Amino acid sequence: MSEAIIRMKDVRKTYRLGKVDIHALDGVTLEIQSGCFTSIAGASGAGKSTMLHILGCLDHATSGEVHVNGRNLSEMGDSELTAFRKRNIGFVFQFFNLIPTLTARENVLMPAMFDREKKAEKADELLKMVGMSHRTEHHPNEMSGGERQRVAIARALINDPPMILADEPTGNLDSQTGKEIIDLFRTLSGEGKTIVLVTHEKDVARFADRIITVKDGKVLDG
Ligand SMILES: Nc1ncnc2c1ncn2[C@@H]1O[C@H](COP(=O)(O)OP(=O)(O)O)[C@@H](O)[C@H]1O
Ligand SMILES: [Mg+2]
Repeated sequence: MSEAIIRMKDVRKTYRLGKVDIHALDGVTLEIQSGCFTSIAGASGAGKSTMLHILGCLDHATSGEVHVNGRNLSEMGDSELTAFRKRNIGFVFQFFNLIPTLTARENVLMPAMFDREKKAEKADELLKMVGMSHRTEHHPNEMSGGERQRVAIARALINDPPMILADEPTGNLDSQTGKEIIDLFRTLSGEGKTIVLVTHEKDVARFADRIITVKDGKVLDG
């Protein structure tokens, strides 16, 4: 068995709204193995995005332990977390989050920050890998939803992170296009990337190697 790249131990995330506490995560303990394609499934409001944001160093847990790629996230300061995120994690979102004024190639190069010139060739390779080499100079508004998501996946890979976190990546796509995007994640997982895909659609979750079901901030099974 390969090692766990993600470990969460009794993780809680509580939001205080006025006098009410909302337990978005209510004692989550789980491990995800390196190279595994995992779905986090569950209804809207179950805590899926909260979990992904904590794993992706976009938010802190209220309590509990989170280890990603051998590092304890709660022991890192903000600048260390930012550097860690850039090296280790690629994000894919439901609404693609591409910058409209930039071409496909420029969007892919965004997370490379100061290495853009060095990585221009890599951006073109990634666009080819996601089937978008004919679109490198196009802007997002000239692309279909599925094409935008392919560009977003190439962008997530530009710093060669071991892990891709995707929040409802097919939520804005028709089912055939969604299936093509899932196939792309499958290919990446076959190449050794760890994929964590959040979805409220059972039909999407079932394509992963493993399904973790979340309800009311707790892991039900998986
Ligand atoms: N910033 C926030 N402030 C207050 N409550 C929040 C916040 N973000 C999420 N929540 C609440 O936490 C719970 C889990 O939300 P979320 O993780 O977004 O669920 P999911 O992604 O499964 O739909 C929900 O009850 C939601 O309303
Ligand atoms: Mg969500």
